[in-house]
Amino acid sequence: MPENNSKTKPKTTSWENVGGWYNSIVGDDGHYYHQKIILPGVLKLLGIEKGTDCALLDLACGQGVLARQLPVHCLYTGIDISPTLIKAAKSTNKNPRFEFVLGDTSKTLPIKKQDFTHAAIILALQNIEAGDQVLLNAARHLQKGGKFVIVLNHPCFRIPRQSSWGIEEEKKLQYRRIDRYQTEMKIPIQANPSKGGSSEATWSFHHPLSTYSKWIKAAGFVIDSIDEWCSDKTSTGKNAKMENRSREEFPLFMAITCVKN
Ligand SMILES: C[S@@+](CC[C@H](N)C(=O)[O-])C[C@H]1O[C@@H](n2cnc3c(N)ncnc32)[C@H](O)[C@@H]1O
Repeated sequence: MPENNSKTKPKTTSWENVGGWYNSIVGDDGHYYHQKIILPGVLKLLGIEKGTDCALLDLACGQGVLARQLPVHCLYTGIDISPTLIKAAKSTNKNPRFEFVLGDTSKTLPIKKQDFTHAAIILALQNIEAGDQVLLNAARHLQKGGKFVIVLNHPCFRIPRQSSWGIEEEKKLQYRRIDRYQTEMKIPIQANPSKGGSSEATWSFHHPLSTYSKWIKAAGFVIDSIDEWCSDKTSTGKNAKMENRSREEFPLFMAITCVKN
């Protein structure tokens, strides 16, 4: 695996070492892609209707950005391994039906409820080493027929250190280059690339799509739908046309909606 040049390789997958920074970029309403793509997409996929039963388990909830978008009548439990992020989530919460719990989502969960109607894991399954165990936990705590929405950085097109953009001048084409895909990889990434080599690192785990599908089946889910979400940004300048076209061709995120059998 290629060596990283960031300051530290953390011992755990927790975002505790970058919790203050992550909390500030997410804020109350989420970062750019949370607001524009992910949260509206997740809410639509969860399909929680006004006044209907809703108890949602949010695995690796971070500082609770999803909770703040839910209808107030929902019951909500968010679990994350970072004390700083759980503290931040609790400090902004005003809903007595919402709780935030410190815990490792790949181990036995520190909660009793086993009949959640919905579960979600947003931009986090790829940060957890034993992803298969997280899916088993989701299944253990959902009721039969319960819905589980997984949002990933697109596992086919966004592989840290192994995917990049390139330009073919003759064809006036921006292409996506994928150097490795089938190999499972544990990859340290700089949490805040603008800080260069002094940025703290977090872990990312790459799995091909077939691995996710095997885990989903083994946990007792069936896949209801797979959505692929592109960036809504637009370029300006001399490469705008090719950049805009490739942005529409290569999705940033994949959302897998599963139902518990
Ligand atoms: C990219 S953040 C996403 C957080 C949140 N879902 C969001 O969209 O803002 C990844 C999260 O995974 C959490 N995490 C990593 N390993 C974990 C584990 N084993 N159990 C629970 N949470 C974990 C980190 O602490 C961090 O909050």
